[in-house]
Amino acid sequence: MTNNPATNRLKDKVVLIAGAASGIGAAIAQRCVAEGASVVCADYDAVAAQALADRLGAAAVACRCDVTDALSASSAVDIAKERFGRLDGLVHNAAAPSTTATVVDLDESAWRRELDVSLTGAFLMSKFAVPLIAAGGGGSVVFIGSQFGRVATTRAVAYCAAKAGLIHLAKAMAVDHAPDKVRVNSLSPGAVATTRLLRRFPDFDAANAGLGPAHLLGRIAEPDEIAAAAAFLLSSDASFVTGSDMLVDGGYATR
Ligand SMILES: NC(=O)c1ccc[n+]([C@@H]2O[C@H](COP(=O)([O-])OP(=O)(O)OC[C@H]3O[C@@H](n4cnc5c(N)ncnc54)[C@H](O)[C@@H]3O)[C@@H](O)[C@H]2O)c1
Repeated sequence: MTNNPATNRLKDKVVLIAGAASGIGAAIAQRCVAEGASVVCADYDAVAAQALADRLGAAAVACRCDVTDALSASSAVDIAKERFGRLDGLVHNAAAPSTTATVVDLDESAWRRELDVSLTGAFLMSKFAVPLIAAGGGGSVVFIGSQFGRVATTRAVAYCAAKAGLIHLAKAMAVDHAPDKVRVNSLSPGAVATTRLLRRFPDFDAANAGLGPAHLLGRIAEPDEIAAAAAFLLSSDASFVTGSDMLVDGGYATR
């Protein structure tokens, strides 16, 4: 399912997407450009980020960025300023490949990696991006969370904890930066058809059959359905939305 970006809601805006190279991040980058924005496609996977920027054309620039490293995070923000002269939006989408384990059998290194990419990454990207967004008169920060930041699931302790932390980090930042006109929200998807699911299922039909029934709408999402909601939060259509966690989960967390 692809939603038609009928509006130009992000015209002349500059958006930095951390974890842009694949799946939901790539769909957000594509949606932002389709709605009139310029984008910095920042990702650990520099080759895939460059391929995405090449596909998106002159409105996109790629950079290698490890969100867990302060120098790397600040360089990605510098690229937005050097290339486009401003920054209006930050999307923190990066997440480590999740481990399936209880608290008893989870490796300490896997626990630290999950929190490092999701939470420390959001902290570092925001630390450098928020001042530039504020300097331009304000804008929007969006953290990609998960329904599992709202409700728990089996053998996903690090993921659940990291996503719950991300949702509350957005709220705490919303309080601090409202005076700077920087809105901060999280967006929590249900299951989405990306390669992340192919670590558990042989193909998307199997993922849909396995995970779809847990959602009220009876199916998993397409990446653009998440991107459409991210574009809303980035745009002035969401001018009175801050400190919110937007569930885009097909009703997963409702019952
Ligand atoms: N796919 C789903 O079902 C689903 C459901 C709910 C939430 N989410 C969330 O949506 C986001 C995107 O998920 P996806 O399914 O598109 O996964 P994905 O694995 O395709 O995308 C994650 C991206 O983050 C990048 N990344 C990983 N570590 C990084 C680092 N240290 N620095 C910079 N980039 C890094 C990866 O290279 C990749 O491009 C994640 O935060 C995920 O938790 C996904």
